[in-house]
Amino acid sequence: MIGVFDSGFGGLTVLKEFLRLLPDYDYIYLGDNARAPYGNKSDEVIYKYTEQAVDFLFKSGCELVIIACHTASSKALRKIQEEYLPKNYPNRRVLGVVVPIVEEAVKLSRYHRLGVIGTTATINSGVYKKELEKRWNLSRSARSGEAREIFEQACPLLVPLVEEGWTDKPEAKMILKKYLRPLKVKEIDTLILGCTHYPLLIKDISRIMGKNVNIVNPAEVAAEKLVIYLNKHQDLEKKLNKKGQLVFYTTDNPAKFKELGQRFLGRDIREVKKASL
Ligand code: DGL
Repeated sequence: MIGVFDSGFGGLTVLKEFLRLLPDYDYIYLGDNARAPYGNKSDEVIYKYTEQAVDFLFKSGCELVIIACHTASSKALRKIQEEYLPKNYPNRRVLGVVVPIVEEAVKLSRYHRLGVIGTTATINSGVYKKELEKRWNLSRSARSGEAREIFEQACPLLVPLVEEGWTDKPEAKMILKKYLRPLKVKEIDTLILGCTHYPLLIKDISRIMGKNVNIVNPAEVAAEKLVIYLNKHQDLEKKLNKKGQLVFYTTDNPAKFKELGQRFLGRDIREVKKASL
């Protein structure tokens, strides 16, 4: 089974793309709704919650866990991979979303002027910036002399707006404009949506940024990269069940998850179970 973890509903945007490109696999989705949002929590708390969630998914039989949450990927993934996994499940794998998205953004950007938006924790982690700079340094010899710039913007109001279903309200557009204007002024050519919730705002984001700015949809990129990863890692791929089963867990109210989750997943959710982490 493939486990997909998020702090709440947002990771369902990622699962939606997995189901589009890889519909035959069995998935377990876990949303830690009871403790969301993660985006304004401390490093220690984000790590602890993420480890508990990954542990739950492994105990439920997952061979591979995707941390769909950008905040958890930015703040906890490295320690999970370097410390938790070797000690507890050396033969299983945990992947995040940051590196695939950065690789895609570097490919798309023509003028090396990149923007990143995300939760406060994600932006404060500096992980996107670090990963981008690493790749740009690697290719610097080939394109020496070019100015490369990264502009980051924390957008703490966007997650609650999406969760409240306010994506089409004029207030949402106004707040988006306020967050995006500083990036537009810098004439970025590529914008990374560094949060699970932002694909639900993608139309307005594209409209505000204009047609000359590439928008990196994190959910689509994560799914495309997972296809490549599974092709490359046949040992792991062979262990994954392929009955097309879908199981949903939430740490909060299953009925509420079922009702609201459908908006993120774009299809009906039949049953949701309660998880205790
Ligand atoms: N899932 C989070 C992310 O992608 C957004 C919601 C939260 O703050 O927990 O960063």
